[in-house]
Amino acid sequence: MNLEIDIAGVKLKNPVMTASGTFAAGKEYSEFIDLNNLGAVAVKGIATNPWLGNPTPRIAETYGGMLNSIGLQNLGVDHFIKEDLPFLRKFDTKIIVNIIGNTVEEYCEVAERLNEADVDLIELNISCPNIKKGGVAFGTNCESAEGVTKAVKKVSKHPLIVKLSPNVTDIKEIARAVESGGADAISLINTLLGMAIDIHRRKPVLANITGGLSGPAIKPVALRMVYDVAKTVSLPIIGMGGITSGDDAIEFIMAGATGVAIGTANFFNPRATMDVLEGITEYCHKYDIMELREIRGII
Ligand SMILES: Cc1cc2nc3c(=O)[nH]c(=O)nc-3n(C[C@H](O)[C@H](O)[C@H](O)COP(=O)(O)O)c2cc1C
Repeated sequence: MNLEIDIAGVKLKNPVMTASGTFAAGKEYSEFIDLNNLGAVAVKGIATNPWLGNPTPRIAETYGGMLNSIGLQNLGVDHFIKEDLPFLRKFDTKIIVNIIGNTVEEYCEVAERLNEADVDLIELNISCPNIKKGGVAFGTNCESAEGVTKAVKKVSKHPLIVKLSPNVTDIKEIARAVESGGADAISLINTLLGMAIDIHRRKPVLANITGGLSGPAIKPVALRMVYDVAKTVSLPIIGMGGITSGDDAIEFIMAGATGVAIGTANFFNPRATMDVLEGITEYCHKYDIMELREIRGII
């Protein structure tokens, strides 16, 4: 059995990745799993300079998931290159750097700074719902989604994944826009905008009032969107949203995903990525599948 996949010319030993923002740069998780076994690690969103993020409380547990309004707290690209990258490079896994900016220029600046860094892929986050400027503002409009994709593609040496927001009327239109902007791959979905109210305090649970919903609760929505996008564009797709098991991952692959990423599940099961990988392997054994493309997009 060969679980290897190809994302924009980059070969991953298997389709299991981490979802940005849920695995930091892997240090904490390396106590629980061997990072060498991952297809790729996608690191937390990185900007030109450090961002503080939103006020607390910024996490709330919900039925089958969680709400977060972290607001892309990060220590900036220089810190990543100096501190996190040398750690990650010790492992035989691909590195995906999730990038964020308030403006097109800022996105380009982070991408340019990474040109000399030994990373494998860039993931353009145009879908974070928890910041006032940038983020989802770029991902909910075809023109700006295409524009920022084109601008980053022009300056970046690394293959470009564009991460889509589910908080749109028609995700297929945005997928088409980033494809024509020059994206090499697409990842989806980011979190769904939601909220929770503490009825005893008569206040929103999150200081930011709204936040991004993730976890098993969003899986059917994510799966439908991966299915829709896979039928619309010819780019490789990294599917995510509520994946906790190998069976979940197989569903995403059947819907058209080339790879899968595990996010919120890491918080309640630090070995979630390895459970997913084992589950995929077992499924393939059971049904005599030699390569994942035998089942990719069969729905
Ligand atoms: C706490 C938290 C932080 C996140 N930070 C980022 C981020 O920095 N960049 C990004 O593109 N997505 C970010 N995401 C979105 C996840 O990468 C993923 O798209 C989403 O959570 C859906 O997958 P899941 O249901 O498996 O968590 C974050 C999600 C969570 C829960």
